[in-house]
Amino acid sequence: MIYDLPDSSATETLGRALAASLPQAARSAAQSGAVVYLRGDLGAGKTTCVRGLLRALGVVGTVRSPTYTLIETYSVAPLTCVHVDLYRLQVLTEVDELGLRDHLGPGCLLLVEWPDRGAGALPPADLELLLSYQGEARQARLQAATTVGSAWLSNLGHDTRLVPYVSNLT
Ligand SMILES: Nc1ncnc2c1ncn2[C@@H]1O[C@H](COP(=O)(O)OP(=O)(O)O)[C@@H](O)[C@H]1O
Ligand SMILES: [Mg+2]
Repeated sequence: MIYDLPDSSATETLGRALAASLPQAARSAAQSGAVVYLRGDLGAGKTTCVRGLLRALGVVGTVRSPTYTLIETYSVAPLTCVHVDLYRLQVLTEVDELGLRDHLGPGCLLLVEWPDRGAGALPPADLELLLSYQGEARQARLQAATTVGSAWLSNLGHDTRLVPYVSNLT
């Protein structure tokens, strides 16, 4: 699934739409939780998208980029959202020190920027999002990796706030 994101607010709307389409299986505290990997160059809009998602889930106040802390957690009952940014990760063992294990599992939504830097130390993704530059704008590519991810994308496809990318190479 590919979406055009003409400006920053479109990236935030994608995040909000992802929150709205979060499958029931990941929404409840009794269920499996979900993991999202966000990839893309510096400034591609990963944090902007997470900000929209967290706000739509009910996070009030500032959503800071975990650039230096590597991890920020938010409690939005019944979910715990964990936002991780591994850009500045020095050694892989640092991932264990983040205490992800304490959060993972039922009722946890894990959002990871720069997941490739933590390869092998992270739980597998349900949904993978790649943001890329299109001049001044951005484009988002979403891919499901599990049945939760597929349900999520299928819900997302019905969100009329998003502008699907239409190939002109038909
Ligand atoms: N679709 C977009 N078009 C133009 N600018 C955007 C878009 N999405 C986000 N931005 C801007 O890009 C900058 C970097 O965004 P950020 O989310 O911090 O990127 P990342 O976390 O990927 O490094 C911010 O100023 C943000 O407002
Ligand atoms: Mg970021």
